[in-house]
Amino acid sequence: MRTTADTPIRAVVIGGGAIGASVVTALLRGDVPDVVPVAVVDPQPVGDLGVPQLRLEAALDQADVVVECAGQAVIAQSAVGILERGIDLLITSVGALADPDLAAAVRAAGPGRFLLTAGAIGGLDILSSAAAQGPLTRVEVTTTKLPTTLVQPWMDDHDADLLRVVTEPVEVFRGTAREATRLFPRSLNVAATLGWVVGDFDLVDVRLVADPAAELTCHRVVAEGAAGRYRFEIENLPSPQNPRTSGVVPHAVLRSLAALVGRPSGVV
Ligand SMILES: NC(=O)c1ccc[n+]([C@@H]2O[C@H](COP(=O)([O-])OP(=O)(O)OC[C@H]3O[C@@H](n4cnc5c(N)ncnc54)[C@H](O)[C@@H]3O)[C@@H](O)[C@H]2O)c1
Repeated sequence: MRTTADTPIRAVVIGGGAIGASVVTALLRGDVPDVVPVAVVDPQPVGDLGVPQLRLEAALDQADVVVECAGQAVIAQSAVGILERGIDLLITSVGALADPDLAAAVRAAGPGRFLLTAGAIGGLDILSSAAAQGPLTRVEVTTTKLPTTLVQPWMDDHDADLLRVVTEPVEVFRGTAREATRLFPRSLNVAATLGWVVGDFDLVDVRLVADPAAELTCHRVVAEGAAGRYRFEIENLPSPQNPRTSGVVPHAVLRSLAALVGRPSGVV
């Protein structure tokens, strides 16, 4: 990636939805110094975001860094190629990395650098440090979301309808982060991020609760191992544009982008 201080870093944003559109707007406003958005890539019309909407290949010709805000399929289809072109890649759809073959290919690819945003969760720094000191023996996350955001194409009509009318909290899924991100690809990136950070998607025990009263999306994390014991709880307001996504995520992406281009601020 070009790094000269007097040449702006050119960012291409893949996905012009709730996260991507906010990221483009913030970059146009100058929220990340020296990073300019040059294109958005999306198969659907995204309206006037202030940058051209291009096909991926044309956009990559102009990119120093790509910011993925689109979904797991983009990582599977394009991550390795982007990195091999020497373009840095920042991703939000961390669940894609639960596929061990894809994760290995992405880790091996370069010379572009590959980064995951922390997205909707925090506390990853201490968990990463703890896992480095000694293996974690227990990692659990209980995620509570609005039921209608959890309806999936693979559900039968009965189960999908139940989620639409449920009046009490109900457990929708219990299993590993690997399985969770396969079944709920747009809803459990937090579980995937925990799996990546602790180095084991199968160690992370995920409980997903649908709660019609969940005005905030909640993630309760418990972890323990050789380094100590950790408990934290995060409650995020859903994005007004997409209730599956927390409103804080575009800001996490911008923070990650600042770190990626060499201008981290504050705690890293
Ligand atoms: N890491 C986290 O904490 C976290 C949190 C929320 C969402 N996410 C991820 O971010 C993604 C985007 O979230 P969002 O709320 O902006 O979703 P969204 O549905 O509002 O927008 C997604 C956009 O991507 C576009 N898209 C789909 N396939 C594409 C492709 N192949 N190439 C280019 N664009 C494509 C869609 O047309 C849509 O405009 C989610 O799918 C999820 O994987 C991560």
